[in-house]
Amino acid sequence: MNDMKPLAHRRPNSALLERLKSVVGPKGWLDQPGDLAPHLADWRRRFQGKTPLLLKPATTAEVAEIVRLCAAAQAAIVPQGGHTGLAGGGTPHDTGDEILLSTARLNRVRALDAANYTITVEAGCILKQVQDAAAAADRLFPLSLAAEGTCQIGGNLSTNAGGIAVLRYGNARDLVLGLEVVLPDGRVWDGLRALRKDNSGYDLKQLFIGAEGTLGIITAAVLRLFPAPKERVTAFAALRDLDAAVDLQARCRAASGDSLVSFELLPRAGIDLALRHIPGVADPLQAKRDYYVLIELTAAAEGSDLRARLETALAAALEDGLLADATIAESAEQARKLWFVREGITELQKYAGVSIKHDISVPVARVPAFIPRAIELCAKMFPGTRPIAFGHVGDGNVHFNVYQPEAMDGGAFLAQGEALSAAIHDLAMELNGSFSAEHGIGRLRLQEMRRYKSDVELDLMRRIKQALDPLDLMNPGKVV
Ligand code: FAD
Ligand code: MLT
Ligand code: ZN
Repeated sequence: MNDMKPLAHRRPNSALLERLKSVVGPKGWLDQPGDLAPHLADWRRRFQGKTPLLLKPATTAEVAEIVRLCAAAQAAIVPQGGHTGLAGGGTPHDTGDEILLSTARLNRVRALDAANYTITVEAGCILKQVQDAAAAADRLFPLSLAAEGTCQIGGNLSTNAGGIAVLRYGNARDLVLGLEVVLPDGRVWDGLRALRKDNSGYDLKQLFIGAEGTLGIITAAVLRLFPAPKERVTAFAALRDLDAAVDLQARCRAASGDSLVSFELLPRAGIDLALRHIPGVADPLQAKRDYYVLIELTAAAEGSDLRARLETALAAALEDGLLADATIAESAEQARKLWFVREGITELQKYAGVSIKHDISVPVARVPAFIPRAIELCAKMFPGTRPIAFGHVGDGNVHFNVYQPEAMDGGAFLAQGEALSAAIHDLAMELNGSFSAEHGIGRLRLQEMRRYKSDVELDLMRRIKQALDPLDLMNPGKVV
């Protein structure tokens, strides 16, 4: 897959490369092909790039010095966190003249203020590390996604990641109180405020959240924490149909005093794929239906009676014919296994042949209209493809993956898949949705930006980019 934007920056010369190495010292850079390889192909292996140098600064001052030197030489920089992004934003182009800047060594938890319910972390902290630091202080950092053992908080904020707890806690954007950012000219903006109330002018941090590294490099953040959950109930239910999912979600919210955290859709075909390809995955229910949901409720106080409330709600839903069957996990281990099935579907992208991904959202009540119509489009436009719809149905966010026909070559499938993707995105837009719910734009969705964003929106975005990064040195050729 390729985008055609010409890149205006200059190729770094050897003097610049040596100067940059000296900023970070001997442990802070890589330039050998074997060492660089994992940083040059994205997680799904759709994008492959080159770089003359990967830098791993250990402090904000080092990041600022790198950016200053690159700006003076008009050399482009691609920021990279855990490199788990699904839109190709963290992978350099194949021109070989972009400097790769990894935040892996910016990995300190700077402070945790339990009374203020905040944590201050550097961008290279792995998401799991942030969750664990919060848990050690009897607090919750609620951002959670299957890549949490690898992705970094700087990458999460730069993609405005969603995940499995958005229903209750919002996207990454909603969890940020302050940011520290190295701007494209090398200045440091210290916006590390730990305030829930601050109406003093434009909310600058919002510019950098979800900007995918095109406006500056996030080096640290103040994040919101919540009380640690004291009760957790996980359930799995076989749905009558997709309409039942919408109804069931509302019932779960109402019955639990709005304690619903996750409401995830799994299709039968996805479970079958997981059972076939991933060792240790077991079928959670006897009943065979087209769709299932994984439900999780939590409460910050013991004695909240969540299990009984969910049991009652599920029993009523069974009685009313919304469900064919349901089970509630009896232990943390059983709950983990249910989640393993859900996460298995994501992992399958690597094992079950070539797939074309779509990460769409629509208003929740329109999910039952979107999925069958999208499946019908696949059957009509590309017979033999295997569509799998799963994901954060509680947020109206459907991951609609279309697997190649079994007899077809993967490359040929990808080459012909563009028209199908356009039709699926058109459908999401027709239903008042989005063509990118949580994975961002990167290099993958540039065409859709042009197709669906209004001239006004594109103009505003380009003006913001021009104002902050007039030389187009920050992750050029991505997002706008
Ligand atoms: P990277 O991939 O390294 O970078 C992502 C983008 O941010 C790039 O454009 C990069 O240039 C930029 N960037 C990185 N760090 C910085 C920084 N410090 N400053 C400025 N720019 C920066 N995403 C979801 O939203 N929800 C999910 O449920 C979800 N599940 C996933 C499950 C799996 C198995 C995988 C592989 C991915 C999943 N993702 C999901 C996508 C991905 O994990 C997220 O987008 C994540 O936030 C990316 O973090 P990262 O550190 O890997 O960023
Ligand atoms: C997920 O929810 O599992 C992720 O967003 C990854 C995917 O879309 O496959
Ligand atoms: Zn997702």
